[in-house]
Amino acid sequence: MSALPQLERSPASAARGADAQLSALIASRRPGFTLPAPFYLSPRVFARDLELIFGRHWIFVGTEPEIAEPGDFFTVELGGDSILIVRDDDLTVRAFHNVCRHRGARLRPAGSGIVGNLVCPYHQWTYNLKGELIVSPHMGDGFERCGYSLKSVHLESLAGLLFICLAPERAPGFEAMRAALTPYIAPHDIPNCKVAFQSDLIEHGNWKLTMENNRECNHCSANHPELTVPLLEYGFGYQPSSENLEEVQAFNALLAREHQRWQACGLPSAEIERLREVTGFRAVRLPIAQSGESQTVDTKVACRRLLGALSETALGGLSVWTQPNSWQHFMSDHIVSFSVLPLAPERTLLRTRWLVHKDAQEGVDYDVDRLASVWTATNAQDGALVERAHQGIASPAYEPGPYSPFTEGLVDGFCNWYLQRLSAALKTG
Ligand code: FES
Ligand SMILES: [Fe+2]
Repeated sequence: MSALPQLERSPASAARGADAQLSALIASRRPGFTLPAPFYLSPRVFARDLELIFGRHWIFVGTEPEIAEPGDFFTVELGGDSILIVRDDDLTVRAFHNVCRHRGARLRPAGSGIVGNLVCPYHQWTYNLKGELIVSPHMGDGFERCGYSLKSVHLESLAGLLFICLAPERAPGFEAMRAALTPYIAPHDIPNCKVAFQSDLIEHGNWKLTMENNRECNHCSANHPELTVPLLEYGFGYQPSSENLEEVQAFNALLAREHQRWQACGLPSAEIERLREVTGFRAVRLPIAQSGESQTVDTKVACRRLLGALSETALGGLSVWTQPNSWQHFMSDHIVSFSVLPLAPERTLLRTRWLVHKDAQEGVDYDVDRLASVWTATNAQDGALVERAHQGIASPAYEPGPYSPFTEGLVDGFCNWYLQRLSAALKTG
């Protein structure tokens, strides 16, 4: 008997077949090599990425200063989903599905702003900032509004970094990440920062290529003339090899000296590497070249008002990475915070925020061009590299290639985490 045509199969059996194909694809990945092409190109894999990776893990979506006042909100677009992140009148930050409980209209278009209440433009159902329905025209006196609050989404603030989890049950491990990272991040005092500048860059490549590109600096010296002024690439996943033994040893000696100095100032600095966990993360405070101060064109601070109670400028840069979609750099004077959101198999939003102390005055304490120039240039360069990688992978000639064990171990680690999480989700259904 011939196989049933695709359209005659039940949706459930089609889904099982697709999952079996995905499991076979996961099994086909050669350890230490880039992923097979469908992981970057296939709409079906992309749909599973949204559902099983972005739908079931803690996703970094922004920072508290982006919604500093009651009524401030921004939206997060994830596939077909839209999430509202709102600060309510009690200053609590909340997350809701951006879907009216009347006939399902999207409450707010993509973007940010300030509201008193959340009023649906369609028939004016109105929700307060706690998500409770408070006005429902023409529904009659006996209508029970309490059954129609906005659907909430798990949200946590980690020292001012905002994460959401879309799954009904919170993904495990957030409290462990908070306990480990808070002592590192808290001295930079995110809640008392403001957004000095924000940029949205659409990268023309799969979101995993954006993340892979971030997890190595093997490409830095040839592609980032601005970033490599302040940044010492050996802190970003290098292992000693015959080609770089002296440089890595010299860097490690500098790292040990600086860690001692910073820790004496009360700043935890030693590397934490827990990227393999469900809620995976890594943090380390790294030296900055020359003056040792900040990720700027001349390595000197870009903002005269330092963060929190910090009084010294040369504190290097605390770098933090979270799975599956963020990285952050915390200096004495400013913070650069990155989130990655998939838009389509071949389109990814990279959102970057530059935070300074909320009392710093533009034009007096800092200049936006100087503050943002290194990472604006670097993002554009990285976006072009991601696009180039995606183009090459789309060719029939592409086959997975080997990662460098000396410079690309963290990229391999990212792919391993991704495949492991996908595999685990497919097993649990
Ligand atoms: S769909 Fe929102 S008020 Fe009708
Ligand atoms: Fe880069």
